[in-house]
Amino acid sequence: MSCFGCFSPRRKDVSKVEIDNGTTRSSGSGRGRGHFDDTESGKGKGKGGNSAQKSVARSFTFRELAAATKGFKEVNLIGEGGFGRVYKGRLEAGQVVAVKQLNHDGLQGFQEFIVEVLMLSLLHHTNLVTLIGYCTDGDQRLLVYEYMPRGSLEDHLFDLKPDQEPLCWDTRIKIAVGAARGLEYLHCKANPPVIYRDLKSANILLDDHFNPKLSDFGLAKLGPVGDNTHVSTRVMGTYGYCAPEYAMSGKLTLKSDIYSFGVVMLELITGKKAIDNTMKQGEQNLVAWSRPFLKDRRKFVQLVDPLLQGRFPTRCLHHAVAITAMCLQEQPTFRPLISDIVVALEYLASQNHKPGRAGVHSPISSSPSQQHRDTFSRESDYRMSSTSG
Ligand SMILES: Nc1ncnc2c1ncn2[C@@H]1O[C@H](COP(=O)(O)OP(=O)(O)OP(=O)(O)O)[C@@H](O)[C@H]1O
Ligand SMILES: [Mg+2]
Repeated sequence: MSCFGCFSPRRKDVSKVEIDNGTTRSSGSGRGRGHFDDTESGKGKGKGGNSAQKSVARSFTFRELAAATKGFKEVNLIGEGGFGRVYKGRLEAGQVVAVKQLNHDGLQGFQEFIVEVLMLSLLHHTNLVTLIGYCTDGDQRLLVYEYMPRGSLEDHLFDLKPDQEPLCWDTRIKIAVGAARGLEYLHCKANPPVIYRDLKSANILLDDHFNPKLSDFGLAKLGPVGDNTHVSTRVMGTYGYCAPEYAMSGKLTLKSDIYSFGVVMLELITGKKAIDNTMKQGEQNLVAWSRPFLKDRRKFVQLVDPLLQGRFPTRCLHHAVAITAMCLQEQPTFRPLISDIVVALEYLASQNHKPGRAGVHSPISSSPSQQHRDTFSRESDYRMSSTSG
């Protein structure tokens, strides 16, 4: 059953990206083997699902990538994660790229490299980062991605530089919608479904217009097939984003990703990090800290990022928090399906809020009774029912 009874269900997509023995096949769309994008679901919806770059990842020599990054110069360093360092570069043809260089820390990185190349060669969607190529010269392992000029969501939520504008409410919802669409593609279009396993704000990259793309598929797993309800794995992922049942038992389901999505939603709403060891005891784990607020609708407003300075639509906040709370249910079966989340978030995004409009929370202009009405008038929009699966 759908969690969001008021929204009309999305058309069932007829085509699927089939993943079998390293090849892809579209079922029902009449296309042959090859690389597939979300053309079918993007059609007619005006959300650009079909504009993902479809070119096949190509092989680069180490020399080419050294030239692109000017010898991996420090000045071109744009980030560093567990996998290695990331450099900005320019290919000979002029294309600006991000080059990720694996640090030589054992087998894990090599496995992630292979999974990343395989997954991103098979899966193409506007809200997944495009892999342009890779390098396997000698023991070098490098990945070449499209360059995302605004870096990661993390860079725009936490520890902002003095001259940096905080994200406005509408942009936060836009990012949530795009990330949800990327996840929907993995869960609902890929066959078998792909469990992302590493959803976090550091892995949501942003283009010039704050369109989000999911990145880092090195931990992704093919989901359960047939009668199986889960796949068993060694617990991987990032502390603070990991679903409790997965952390405890290693049983991985699509609902593990939904929990992580809930944590990202919480970060978008609060501007707080999933884990922040600089905070005092009791406030270091965002989900644990937020529980009392999530349970009481009158306290929703206390969750909101102070950097928004009260500029958010109260009703939309109410719905966004309701979605978040459902994603963070302890029981995985009570968490919603990603397709329902997409529908609900698309509805919120379609409301197009402008600060100062009626219903937009403003600490100065609206009276408490008005705010209260705005907050609760559309309460029935969401049925807080559970979804099995
Ligand atoms: N395609 C890209 N375009 C622009 N910047 C990128 C790109 N890929 C990564 N980055 C930058 O590099 C940083 C590090 O990314 P990386 O994926 O290596 O690590 P992480 O996701 O932060 O952490 P970890 O991989 O350890 O989980 C990102 O936060 C982002 O700022
Ligand atoms: Mg990353």
